Amino acid sequence: MKDIKNKIIFSAAQPSGNLHLGNYLGAIKQWIDLQNNYKSIFSIVDYHAITIYQEPQKLREKILETAMIYLAAGIDPKKSIIFVQSDVREHTELAWILNTISKISELELMTQYKDKVKKLRSNVSVGLFDYPVLMAADILLYKTDFVPVGEDQKQHIEFARMLARRFNNLYGEIFIEPKEIIIKEGARIMGLDDPEKKMSKSAENQNNYIALIDEPSLIKEKIKKAVTDSGKEIVYDLEKKKGIANLLTIYSLVSSKTIKQLEKEYKGKNYGEFKKDLGEAIVYFLDPLQKNLKKLKENPANVKKILKNGAEQAKIIASKNLEEAKNKIGINY
Ligand code: AMP
Ligand code: TRP
Repeated sequence: MKDIKNKIIFSAAQPSGNLHLGNYLGAIKQWIDLQNNYKSIFSIVDYHAITIYQEPQKLREKILETAMIYLAAGIDPKKSIIFVQSDVREHTELAWILNTISKISELELMTQYKDKVKKLRSNVSVGLFDYPVLMAADILLYKTDFVPVGEDQKQHIEFARMLARRFNNLYGEIFIEPKEIIIKEGARIMGLDDPEKKMSKSAENQNNYIALIDEPSLIKEKIKKAVTDSGKEIVYDLEKKKGIANLLTIYSLVSSKTIKQLEKEYKGKNYGEFKKDLGEAIVYFLDPLQKNLKKLKENPANVKKILKNGAEQAKIIASKNLEEAKNKIGINY
């Protein structure tokens, strides 16, 4: 058994758009705490992002900006490895190997894939279909124990776990079966424009999400426009008041007040007052991150150095583990 300090955490986000409050509250916030107790590795997964077309210049900018947001949020390169996926070729190489033990029928069951197919119709790439295999490679490559993510990634991690088991059975024990870490509150922040669907970077409506880089005035405006119901009371009711329930969850997480406390505080008050205060609470919550980000943007060369250094550290682990896997399969002579 590894002791806890040696247990490995791996997680990642795609540089495919603006990181939003859902990404922060569901995933990144946990990473900041976990890095103090585990060997932590955080990646910016650009090869995942291109499974749906990205405009090249924009992608280039978003890769760097996503890294800056990790750092601004408090990921500390002295404690954690931060790197860009494409800088460590072993990810795609292991993905190929895992492809050979993945079943089409298993990938066809993936909810995220099915949702995207509905949106994209016939314009679905093989890469998008194969995405969970690359994700499993990301995770297994570091013999990861725990993967802190939002709710929507649970199925992908179950799949990674199953591939680890399958590989170990076929070729011999080398991969760890990873477990997800999903927090209770905030694991699924819903869209501001539609509380039936999760907050998403790829939403067409800009009012769906609060981007971590949104200006204070825009944040307040988006909260003002957030969809609620026709009632009056500010109470947490997931059946009848999904919009308000989502806003209460967000409020609670950015203010560290419980939902019960908030319900009490807003008894007799109207949606307008509630939304005004929530907008301000989010602005206040994001202020340190935005200030840090501004500073980091003044010196992109420094961030690139951190990323290249992170890639070197990641590569040491990745190449060793990949070699081990290749030896087991007989891909050596
Ligand atoms: P992605 O934006 O898909 O790259 O996701 C990066 C991380 O944020 C993953 O751990 C997701 O599970 C998490 N995440 C994405 N959207 C949400 C959301 N609406 N609520 C909570 N967590 C989310
Ligand atoms: N698929 C994840 C998402 O969209 C991003 C991701 C890629 C990831 N590889 C990973 C998350 C490995 C955790 C571990 O949110």
